[in-house]
Amino acid sequence: MSSETSPQSPVPSSPGGEPSKPRVAVVFGGRSSEHGISVVTAGAVMRAIDRTKYDVLPIGITRDGRWALTTDDPERMAITDRALPDVDQLAESAEGGVVLPVDPGNREVVYAEPGSVPKALGEVDVVFPVLHGPYGEDGTLQGLLELSGTPYVGSGVLASAVGQDKEYMKRVFTSFGLRVGPYVVIRPREWAEDRDMARKKIVEFAGEHGWPLFVKPARAGSSIGITKVESFEGLDEAIEEAQRHDPKILVEALLRGREIECGVLEFEDGPRASLPAEIPPVSDHAFYDFEAKYIDSASGIVPAPLTAEQTADVQRLAVEAFEAAACEGLVRADFFLTDDGQFVINEINTMPGFTPISMYPRMWQESGVGYAELVDRLLQAALRRPTGLR
Ligand SMILES: Nc1ncnc2c1ncn2[C@@H]1O[C@H](COP(=O)(O)OP(=O)(O)O)[C@@H](O)[C@H]1O
Ligand SMILES: [Mg+2]
Repeated sequence: MSSETSPQSPVPSSPGGEPSKPRVAVVFGGRSSEHGISVVTAGAVMRAIDRTKYDVLPIGITRDGRWALTTDDPERMAITDRALPDVDQLAESAEGGVVLPVDPGNREVVYAEPGSVPKALGEVDVVFPVLHGPYGEDGTLQGLLELSGTPYVGSGVLASAVGQDKEYMKRVFTSFGLRVGPYVVIRPREWAEDRDMARKKIVEFAGEHGWPLFVKPARAGSSIGITKVESFEGLDEAIEEAQRHDPKILVEALLRGREIECGVLEFEDGPRASLPAEIPPVSDHAFYDFEAKYIDSASGIVPAPLTAEQTADVQRLAVEAFEAAACEGLVRADFFLTDDGQFVINEINTMPGFTPISMYPRMWQESGVGYAELVDRLLQAALRRPTGLR
């Protein structure tokens, strides 16, 4: 292997010298529809990483899946004029790709560009996958990192996959005694082979639970592809919209109540819950949608105005959800506090929105853990964790 170093990132090993700092590869962007927000988040994460303690290697995954070396300039990774940044604008070259070895005995990351000799970028000690959605938050990237024997921030393969699939998430939570809302799944084959039958299944469900219904892609996020359907007339369009993102869809009954979220973070002695937050209904958006979440400033109330008992309840349930799905590092658990006073779990996010104004960091801020400490705790938890089965 070549001993050349990358143009921007010298190999940090210093034989016989000072102990080298752990090298963090921050991986962001990616192939999901949440590409842009991932870039914004990575900018904030890289700004927060203490460079006296860690070295940073920024790796942006383009929308078509190329692993590019990029800038770590937070200015270029910010939202400008309500537009989200893109890895293609940040990549140092239009062609080169970073290769992570799948050999667990080799932590040496390589940079390859067509027509030139591959360059060694040095070893990576821990990966921080700042990725949302498919091919990042869903266990696929985690599988690659498991193969390579590289520690990484956040949940492993199983928890990531469960957290990405709204059907299996509900099945897991139900089996662990957590309360979920009524739903029905329409599988790709059901819709493809007999639409009338699938529609009938939904109409029966609506007969039991009433309209409106929420039609969702089973594996998406950031409210993308979700439609609140008022009546049968809107159903096909909503299904088609959801299927642009995932052939498997979920149809859910409307849950009336307050939206309450709670953060869970892995400390040295185990997971702990943050103070919860409340997401008030957003008036000029049909529900808490992409614009409301990311473009408009986050309007969540921290801490949520709950009774001490309700706060304790939701914190306990959030940790239960973390354990039920076998999460690691962090999770944001989202609940509805229904009008009859019950907490119903809506979903978990194994890599929740993580800009400094996002709910997860804000909840921890209010609980005494600032953004930089949060990033550091996540890296430390990842470095502490054994690789392999655990
Ligand atoms: N069953 C439901 N009843 C009422 N509101 C819902 C329901 N499902 C989703 N919503 C609203 O839509 C938002 C996005 O849905 P969610 O299931 O959290 O998907 P995503 O993974 O895209 O965040 C929620 O935060 C909530 O405001
Ligand atoms: Mg959500």
